[in-house]
Order: sequence, then structure tokens, then C-alpha cells
Amino acid sequence: MPLVSGSTLLAAADKDGYAVGAFNVNNLESLTAIVSAAEGERSPVILQASQGAIKYAGLEYIAAMAQVAAARATVPVALNLDHGTSFTQAMQCIRAGFTAVMVDGSRLPYRENAALVSRVVEVAHAVGVSVEAELGRIGGTEDDVSVAEREEVFTDPEAAARFVAETGCDALAVAVGTAHGVYRGEPKLDFERLAAIDRLVAVPLVLHGASGVPDGAIREAVRLGVRKINIDTEIRLAFAASVRSTLAADGSVYDPREILGPARQSMEEVVREKMRLFGSAGRA
Ligand code: 13P
Repeated sequence: MPLVSGSTLLAAADKDGYAVGAFNVNNLESLTAIVSAAEGERSPVILQASQGAIKYAGLEYIAAMAQVAAARATVPVALNLDHGTSFTQAMQCIRAGFTAVMVDGSRLPYRENAALVSRVVEVAHAVGVSVEAELGRIGGTEDDVSVAEREEVFTDPEAAARFVAETGCDALAVAVGTAHGVYRGEPKLDFERLAAIDRLVAVPLVLHGASGVPDGAIREAVRLGVRKINIDTEIRLAFAASVRSTLAADGSVYDPREILGPARQSMEEVVREKMRLFGSAGRA
């Protein structure tokens, strides 16, 4: 089937109380690993491209690969821009065939963030594309986007409600204690804040930086209203561990398929596990 919009998937998740995984793609191997996991688990899935992925693989290649994967798939697949930096980039993605865009104005003052998101919403909604925004600042490093611990700001529930009402965005990424990348200690999520945000905000909530968050905390976040969960780092770690072990086991191997094939398998296993954890397995 063709790519579906992000809000189609999140509306179904909201109705039945689970979260859809949004997995970062960088190349053919990661993309096919994620879609194959979705097929195996009968799960809806969101593919997403970060700034680094767009630089590395190119917007058109990512969009084309995702369109082919979705057309061949028997489960619903959406394609999202992750941490979009500008109105221009959001428009380029929509034109290339993305069915969801995140526009991350969280570095801007409230007013400017809201103005940027509203502008994107107006155009995106006219063509059936959904929009995710971010309020507060999520720590860590996600490709080109880096937020030091001292710059982290947790999302204020009342401001979040106002922001969603003013902008018309379809989903909101919240800062409640997660960070992008590898955690140094165990992350501590502010569940009270998450519950307060969910009580006041009408749209589905998004948890970024979910790699390395303990399973129990993920389940609690889903129970409290998180409907989209982003995973990048754990997929990369699985990829790198597999490539290292293949090369260490046989130094004479040179066929990319023999190196990347097992890596694809490892990435698929991580994604399948997350789909079961998020409760999206068996929903497609
Ligand atoms: P991780 O790298 O921690 O998995 O976070 C991914 C993410 O939030 C992408 O926006």
C-alpha cells in the first residue's frame, strides 16, 4: 500500500492504547530491516530520516526507498522527517513524498517556534501530511542537533496545551528526562509531568531518545499517553556490533553482502523487540 500519514497511525494507536515505533533509517539495510520487522510482527511502523541521514543518503533516495518498501508491504508504513530544521526543508520533504514532518523549533523562543510550526501545519495539512512539533528541549546529540545538559528544558504542561491549540500540530515531542544517544547512567523519566501533559494536551505525545530507556519506563510512558517512540541509537549499536564481529571472525571477508546481511538481521531483531515492547505488534 502507499505510504500513510503519521496521524493515521497515531490515531489508531491512541484509540487502542499503544505506541508506534519511529525508527531512523540511513541506508537500504536499515530501511529493509525495519520494514521486514514490521511485516514479521504485523506492526504499523514509521520510518524516519534525521538531518544526518538526509546528508548521507539524500532526501530523494530515502523517499524512493520508503515508497518502494511501503508499496510492497502488507502493513501500514509512514515516512517522517526527524528534527526538521526549517520551513524550506519541510516543504522539500513533502514534495519528495514524506507523509509526516517534524519541525523542531525547540531551540527558538516560544513565539517563533509556534509561528514556524503554524506555517508548516497550514501547508502540510492542505496535502494530508501530519506535523510533529517539540516544546521544551530534549538533551543529547542526534546527528546535527546537539543539546547540552545545561540547555535541557523540561516541557511545561500548560505551555504545551497552549502551543498545540495555537499551532494545530498533530503530535508533540516532550522533554521529560530522555536524551538522544547513549546514556551515561540510567535515565529517570518525570512521569508526573508526562501525566500532566497528557491530561492537558489533546494530541498524541512523542518520546524521543528512547534507546537505552528501561522496558518498565517505556511501558509506563505508553500507559501515560506516549503514542510515538523514536529509536535510533540501539539500531546503530546493533549494526556496528554485527559488522565488528563478522570482520573479527573472518578477516578475509570482502563481500558487502556477507558483512551487511548479518548486520541487517541484527537491526531487524532490535526493531522486532521494540515493536513488542511498544504494544504495536499484532496491530496491523
Ligand atoms: P535515540 O538515538 O536515543 O534512539 O533517539 C532517537 C530519536 O529520538 C530520534 O529523534
